[in-house]
Amino acid sequence: MTSVPRAAAAWTLAHGIQRAGLKYAARKGQVTAQLAIDPVTMADPFAAYERLRGSTIDRGPVVNATVDHATANQILRSDDFGTGAGKAELPRPLQKLFDLVADPYTLSPVDPPSLLATDPPEHTAHRKLVSGAFTARKVMRLNERVEEVASELLDKIVAEGGSTFDLVDRYAARLPVAVIAELLGIPDDEHDQLLAWGNRAAVTLDPGLTFRQYRSAADALREMHHWFEAHVERLRRKPGEDLLSGLAQMTGDDAMSPLELRAVGLLVLGAGFETTVNLIGNAVVDLSAHPDQRAMALEEPDRWGNVVEEVLRWDSPVQLTMRAVVRDTEVGGEQLRAGEAVLVLLGGANRDPKVFENPARFDVTRANADQHLAFSAGAHFCLGASLARLEATTALRLLYNRFPDLEVAGTPVRRGTRVLRGYEHVPISTRASVAT
Ligand code: HEM
Repeated sequence: MTSVPRAAAAWTLAHGIQRAGLKYAARKGQVTAQLAIDPVTMADPFAAYERLRGSTIDRGPVVNATVDHATANQILRSDDFGTGAGKAELPRPLQKLFDLVADPYTLSPVDPPSLLATDPPEHTAHRKLVSGAFTARKVMRLNERVEEVASELLDKIVAEGGSTFDLVDRYAARLPVAVIAELLGIPDDEHDQLLAWGNRAAVTLDPGLTFRQYRSAADALREMHHWFEAHVERLRRKPGEDLLSGLAQMTGDDAMSPLELRAVGLLVLGAGFETTVNLIGNAVVDLSAHPDQRAMALEEPDRWGNVVEEVLRWDSPVQLTMRAVVRDTEVGGEQLRAGEAVLVLLGGANRDPKVFENPARFDVTRANADQHLAFSAGAHFCLGASLARLEATTALRLLYNRFPDLEVAGTPVRRGTRVLRGYEHVPISTRASVAT
């Protein structure tokens, strides 16, 4: 257990200073700060994004931001920007101090050595090792398994009555966790524990947490780190075909340190299910709110791929990421100095009228829906994008095949996270199921 003073120091550096600055700027009316810190603005951020639409980069006293698709794309792909080691807005000396006080057993997927918080050359080498698990061939091989798991989950819902159920708890969360657990060699009976940890830790992606939020997430992360440590040991003794077994077996210069192995496990686990659950949940709620679009989705079985792209664009499960300028540069006609941070508002870029005609309209037939930046771009482009697409397309196709009259019954409950956008509960009612 980390001592309270050490945890308080880590929180102050990782969140406290940032929280104070963002709160001050939000009170002064800075839209970017409101987007970063205020859960009410983030529950429906789209009006706020439009207030930033006038400039390529909105310059703010605490943080800059962009909702401009071309600028966001350029920043994400440019060598002039780095991740800021997950602490983009802190001056370098304070980032270094954080590394000293941070407990390595509470590091989150946005702290180094996670892929999300490292830059080349370290990032390039690690990414190469991890990406082997996500090649097109390997994802295609998972196709059958994804169908199988989704069908089993639906069978279970039907067998247990099926006329009302919580989509997230019974389906949208279960499919991704089952798939990712297989990739990481985790047995079936651990799924509930993984989901519980994931729910507690997901908030660590958000900037400016309160000390209480930070402590609760850090406790979950600590349990996960210890669990992964033991899991890697198990895989070393009895390796399987999975990604972690492969990485744990490596020797020599390529071998990953115990912390790096835990970081890969935590990232792939978190990224693998905390996002895809939201994609599936958002899709069902969005289709329910747009009956004409739902009818079009159901009328052509081949359309599910494009439905998924439009949900990714219109209701992005990851709304933002952050980058720090590593050397003075110009982007979107703005001069940026080394050390400045930019909030890349992916959800806002995905509604840029310069790229998407009538961008606020949810249109499952949109021809260029897949030009979204929902999976980011450049060096950190989502490694699981093909897998997420496969899971969501299969999940939706099988769900609506089984329950063609499915309705969202009542008000879905949003998750309390700001970076991740999705639902904690989506109550569903159905009248009839179709046998498959
Ligand atoms: C709807 C589902 C998903 C969405 C919206 C999503 C989104 C993202 C985004 C936006 C990033 C980059 C963040 C940045 O540029 O700072 C990212 C990175 C990543 N994602 Fe995903 N993701 C999804 C599903 C998955 C799945 C299923 C996996 C793995 C099984 C996965 C694994 C990763 C990994 C490993 C990275 C880090 C890549 C790097 O930093 O080099 N993601 N994801």
